[in-house]
Amino acid sequence: MTAPLRAIPGENGLPVVGHTLQFIRNCNALFQEMHGKYGPVYFNRYLSTRAVHLMTPAGNEFVLLDRDKNFSSRRAWNKSLRHLFPNGLMLRDGDEHRQHRRLMGAPFKASALKGYVEDMNPSIASTVTGWGLQRDFRFYRAIKELTLDLAANIFVGQSLNRESQRVNRAFVDLVEASMVVVRYPVLGNKYQRGLEGRAYLVDYFGSRIAAKQQSKDTDMFAEICRAQDDDGNGFSHQDTIDHIIFLMMAAHDTTTSALSSVCFALAKNPEWQQRIRNEAQAFGSAQLDYDQMPEFESAELVFKEALRLYPPLPVIPRQALQDCEFEGFQILRGDQVFVSPYWTHRTPEIWSNPEQFDPERFNSERAEDRIHKHAWIPFGGGAHKCLGLRFADFQVKLVLFHLLRHYEISVKPGYEMPYQPAPIGKPIDLLPLQLKPIHPGRAAA
Ligand code: HEM
Repeated sequence: MTAPLRAIPGENGLPVVGHTLQFIRNCNALFQEMHGKYGPVYFNRYLSTRAVHLMTPAGNEFVLLDRDKNFSSRRAWNKSLRHLFPNGLMLRDGDEHRQHRRLMGAPFKASALKGYVEDMNPSIASTVTGWGLQRDFRFYRAIKELTLDLAANIFVGQSLNRESQRVNRAFVDLVEASMVVVRYPVLGNKYQRGLEGRAYLVDYFGSRIAAKQQSKDTDMFAEICRAQDDDGNGFSHQDTIDHIIFLMMAAHDTTTSALSSVCFALAKNPEWQQRIRNEAQAFGSAQLDYDQMPEFESAELVFKEALRLYPPLPVIPRQALQDCEFEGFQILRGDQVFVSPYWTHRTPEIWSNPEQFDPERFNSERAEDRIHKHAWIPFGGGAHKCLGLRFADFQVKLVLFHLLRHYEISVKPGYEMPYQPAPIGKPIDLLPLQLKPIHPGRAAA
């Protein structure tokens, strides 16, 4: 006789809000408290939603691989993104998702990525050079601006001008709206501005699709406009718009977050900074080429370790489409089910000294991430695994290449980054980084 399924232990939290505010303020403290009380499978509540947390690598695998088709990504993400980023890739399920994902391979094929790397090199080099002249330099603010300008070029195919600034503004409003707790448009509030930003972008992209389809442009938007399957079918007009707007969002704050964590870690660990600098200089050229990316090994180790300690998405949600079972616990249809990169990445059963910055844990001998296939999941896993992970890797390496050839980076003695992990990780003080030119005079060149 099989044992009856156990109800998942947990608690509802405060009336109306449940644990929402605690989650936003300090999700890790909330995870610790709940895990301490109830173990690695528990429920709590965000507003009116029952949220089941599975906090082990096996839980990550169960949810992300979803072998039994228990979960919906669309329903989970729709809760927060439905009006702002409708029908983005992450907001689709099953066969429809598979079909769209295949077509979305076009902007990420090797030839396209190679082109983006060539385009990004000079822009990053010149922007980074100017950073040394800024007073009260905040890395997070600067890198957000840089990735936004790069997006205008690489994603949209716009040179930097007034129109690209309008696109950037609309996009910033849209992303900011996705982070607010009150998701109702009220005169002039952030949500309203986000919806207006979306309306502008829908018009902007919509009016350019026909021309992009005929063009030989190499930006991501053009690639999506021209994408076709083996039968010659491409995206519809509306799908094209939805995908490009979602793609910009998926790329932006995640990469900004990751680069901030990488640079904070390097400022605290000058020996790693020097290793990366040495490798960058050994390439012997003023730019980092596509083919050199795999050889930039120290940068890769540091990027992985920063993503372990500070995964930009601290949790990944799904919604249960049916009652199902995980390790004897009963998950109910309609439950919002969360796995947590942030928690799993700091589990002492997997990682040696998990709180310590130690990039060598990812080298091929130690390979702590291989202890379980779903122990290291900053990019998720399964059908929805991040489509832009190579692009993100290249962008981070390009910034490190140019930044560390020009500057030694540091923080004030004793500084610890005040970090807000949710909804997307960010240094609360925008990361005051000190830049010391390596060749005096060159930073101003
Ligand atoms: C360090 C940077 C990044 C991190 C940590 C990150 C993280 C993630 C995660 C965790 C998911 C899975 C979400 C889920 O399963 O519900 C995801 C999906 C996705 N990401 Fe990223 N991402 C990053 C950068 C990018 C970039 C640069 C792009 C595009 C250029 C991108 C495009 C996407 C897309 C399109 C999806 C949806 C895939 C699908 O549903 O099939 N991401 N990302």
